[in-house]
Amino acid sequence: MGDCLLIRFGRHQPRIEVAVAPWRSRNVRIFLGTMLTVSARLGRCQPRCVAPSGALAQYDIMVPVKRTSTLQEGKDPMKSVLVFYVSRRGHTARVARTICESITASGGRAEMMEIREAVHEGVDWSRYDVVAVGAPVIYGTYDKEVFQFVADNRDALDGKPNSFFNVSVVARNPEKATVEGNRYMQKFLQRSAWKPKEAKVIAGKVDYPAWPWYDVLMIQMIMKMTNGPTDRRAVIDYTDWDDVRAYGRHLLSLA
Ligand SMILES: Cc1cc2nc3c(=O)[nH]c(=O)nc-3n(C[C@H](O)[C@H](O)[C@H](O)COP(=O)(O)O)c2cc1C
Repeated sequence: MGDCLLIRFGRHQPRIEVAVAPWRSRNVRIFLGTMLTVSARLGRCQPRCVAPSGALAQYDIMVPVKRTSTLQEGKDPMKSVLVFYVSRRGHTARVARTICESITASGGRAEMMEIREAVHEGVDWSRYDVVAVGAPVIYGTYDKEVFQFVADNRDALDGKPNSFFNVSVVARNPEKATVEGNRYMQKFLQRSAWKPKEAKVIAGKVDYPAWPWYDVLMIQMIMKMTNGPTDRRAVIDYTDWDDVRAYGRHLLSLA
C-alpha cells in the first residue's frame, strides 16, 4: 500500500489527513512533524495528532481561518447573492426570481426576499456576499418602503458589493433603458440615502387587465402622451429576460 494524502474541506475548518502505510509511516511522521513545526512557528496552523488507527496513521491539521475567508465558520463557501424586492403585481418578483435562477445555474447561491419580510423578520446579512435591491416605478417614483429600507440599512448594504435595479415600462424605449437616460433611475440615485455601487434599468410589463380601473385610466393617459399601448386588454412584457439573466451572472461575479 502506498502513501495517501487526502485534503478534505470540512464545514468548519479545512482538514488534512495523511494515511500512511506502516512501513513508511516513521519517515512520513518525521517529515510531517517538521512541516507542522515550521507551519506552527509561522502561525499558520496548529497541529493536532490523532492516535494511529489500525494499520494507518492519521493526522489532523487544524488551520485557523480568517473571519473574512469563505471558509469562515458556519459559512457556505459557495458565493451567495440576496435580492431584495418590492412588487405590486408580481413582475418585479419574477425579475428577482429570474436573477436568482441564473445565479444558481452559474453555480452560486441566491435568495430573494420581499422588503416587507426583511423589515419585519430581519436579515442575517452575514450569509450573503452580494446584495441587490429592486423596485418597480410607480407614478414616477417608488414605494416609500423602498427609500425607508435602504436608508435604514445603508451600512449593511454598503458593507457588500451591491446594486439597485428598477423596473419600468418607459424603459421599453432603448434610450430610456440606460442608467443615464432613465430619469426614474436618476431620481432614485439623487433621493436615496443609500448610494448603490451599481445600477441597472429593466423594462417592465404593461398589464391592463391586472390593474384596477383607476390605474388603467391614469396609465392610458400616460401612454397616450408617450406613444405607448392604450388598449385596455393589452398585456405586453417588455422585459429582456436574457439581459436579466446576464445581470444575475454579473451580480454573482461581484462576490
Ligand atoms: C399604478 C402604476 C403606475 C405606474 N407608473 C409608471 C410610471 O410612472 N412609469 C413607468 O415607466 N412605468 C410605470 N408603471 C409600470 C410598472 O413599472 C411596470 O408595470 C412594472 O412591470 C410593474 O412591476 P410590478 O408588477 O412588480 O409592480 C406603473 C404601473 C402601475 C401599476
